[in-house]
Amino acid sequence: MNPTFTIAIDGPAGAGKGTLARRLADHYRLNLLDTGLTYRAVAYALIQHALPLDNVSAAETAARQVDLARLDRAVLSAHAVGEAASKVAVFPTVRRILVEKQRDFAKTPPGAVLDGRDIGTVVCPDADIKLYVTASAEVRARRRLAEIESIGGTADFTEILADIVRRDERDMGRADSPLKPATDAHLLDTSEMAIEAAFLAAMAIIDDVLAKRDKA
Ligand code: DC
Repeated sequence: MNPTFTIAIDGPAGAGKGTLARRLADHYRLNLLDTGLTYRAVAYALIQHALPLDNVSAAETAARQVDLARLDRAVLSAHAVGEAASKVAVFPTVRRILVEKQRDFAKTPPGAVLDGRDIGTVVCPDADIKLYVTASAEVRARRRLAEIESIGGTADFTEILADIVRRDERDMGRADSPLKPATDAHLLDTSEMAIEAAFLAAMAIIDDVLAKRDKA
């Protein structure tokens, strides 16, 4: 029997998959990996060394050096790092190096919740549960603006929206492992749904799979 349990969560930036992943990992007592941080770590290393983001061999070296136990969310969460991450994420060799680390993480008992763009399609195609979490670009932009304002910042809605649309295009349009729902993913549209409701909906899906498995 498979000793690990894997929940794969994919979706565009700002759809709420990070919060959902954390809640599910806590609830089902699974390890948690935000795979976006691995691409961000590569981008951050290049930025730190003032290297261009299209320097593939430097990006490969940085990818090899990524240590999943030392991903510093505080440093890596900057908006500019996310933009840069989306650019280094187009390189197949960089992806291959990071995907291998992500798969090893997923295989570690008792299993894990992984969130990203290609978890259900490429990293863990055999995941026990696949969720595709999405929301309209307008809703995601409004949420990001509220988040910025809640910490005393200011931003322009139109610029945020343009940023989100550009990032979606890059993540969905790249040749290698583009963002798309796996054919067997459960879709969760959080446009009209608070995070608590999304969590309850995800739990219902997961508990149903677990119950069927227990009966089998
Ligand atoms: O989820 P995030 O915003 O932290 O991700 C940053 C970028 O990293 C995202 O725009 C595309 C890339 N990424 C990816 O290509 N594959 C993943 N599994 C996770 C992130």
